[in-house]
Amino acid sequence: MSAPMRIAVAGAGLIGRRHIELIEASQGCVLAGIADPSPAAVDYAGAHNVHCYADHRALLAQEKPDGLIIASPNALHLQMALDCAEAGVPALIEKPVTDTVAAAQRLCVAVKRTGVPMLVGHHRRHNPIIKAARETVATGKLGQLTAVVGLWLLKKPDDYFEVAWRYQQGGGPLLINLIHDIDNLRFVCGEITEVQALTSNMVRGFAVEDTAALLLRFANGALGTVTVSDATPAPWSWELTAGENAIYPRQDQPCYVFAGTSGSLSVPTMELWSYPQSPGWHAPLSRNPVALAGYDPLVEQLRHFLAVIAGREQPLISVEDAMATLAVVEAVSEAARTGQKISPGHIMEQAA
Ligand SMILES: NC(=O)c1ccc[n+]([C@@H]2O[C@H](COP(=O)([O-])OP(=O)(O)OC[C@H]3O[C@@H](n4cnc5c(N)ncnc54)[C@H](O)[C@@H]3O)[C@@H](O)[C@H]2O)c1
Repeated sequence: MSAPMRIAVAGAGLIGRRHIELIEASQGCVLAGIADPSPAAVDYAGAHNVHCYADHRALLAQEKPDGLIIASPNALHLQMALDCAEAGVPALIEKPVTDTVAAAQRLCVAVKRTGVPMLVGHHRRHNPIIKAARETVATGKLGQLTAVVGLWLLKKPDDYFEVAWRYQQGGGPLLINLIHDIDNLRFVCGEITEVQALTSNMVRGFAVEDTAALLLRFANGALGTVTVSDATPAPWSWELTAGENAIYPRQDQPCYVFAGTSGSLSVPTMELWSYPQSPGWHAPLSRNPVALAGYDPLVEQLRHFLAVIAGREQPLISVEDAMATLAVVEAVSEAARTGQKISPGHIMEQAA
């Protein structure tokens, strides 16, 4: 059996510590070190028997890890990933891949030039729910996809906004939360070619939105709507319905509906609706459950990252793919600002 891989983590905050727990629980890897300039990280690293570096470049040079998980604030992702590329260290970069599409374009160039594999942490693609939804659409069980509905409605507590960056540009639900749903929708339905949007900050009056309404056109011709608000008590969000994280009390409700000419699917409730006999609005509809495998998407993401480092698997979410997700979110902001239809493809071309 080969030796466990040595995986380091840059940014030992909320999600970084979750990655560290997963590394420590894994048979395939061990924690190689932590990079984080905060005083709290030094004690945390000590408790986990590794060295804490204030600078990720020192960690890369000293520890020479097999891989680095980048779990630092968004604006630092680009430089850390560029440094990994130069050092030949594969990286798992938390979402969003970078803070802007222009920065993601720079990273794409570096990845192509160096050939160092990079995986982006849109971990919901590893969730069996989303894999089964993608499979249902891809195998034609819904027929031709016509319409998609997405809801992300929940209530963030008032003290969430005591941290300054959460009410400043980039800190709202579009870049923090909606980006996950956009990535799910792209993974299940394919590319989004056109975006229209309205945003509102009516509830809190912050610089960032609290509510947004989106219209989407997919390359396959389907149309979609997504409604977002972080200011309402409601069960219809991925967080409250998917059961991915126990801190959110799970509700037996859908947050997406995928509708096609032969059937429709509610997700994560995974109910497939269709006509067993001749179709028509007076005929009885049947409701059938879609079977799911059961595993933790974050555990699966780490397994996949180790396989990517070893060259056994290609990244499920490449930098280029994650850039396309980020471009849709930028298109939403641009569409809301200008009142125009915006093409995410155009945003990427402009940034290249
Ligand atoms: N996949 C998900 O569901 C998910 C969930 C939460 C956060 N995230 C992403 O993970 C990243 C971190 O988010 P978080 O909520 O853990 O933030 P956080 O503020 O809790 O943690 C960030 C950590 O980075 C450290 N840091 C700051 N500057 C640094 C530097 N120069 N080098 C190394 N470390 C540095 C901070 O001290 C802090 O410990 C963000 O990009 C966020 O979007 C993803």
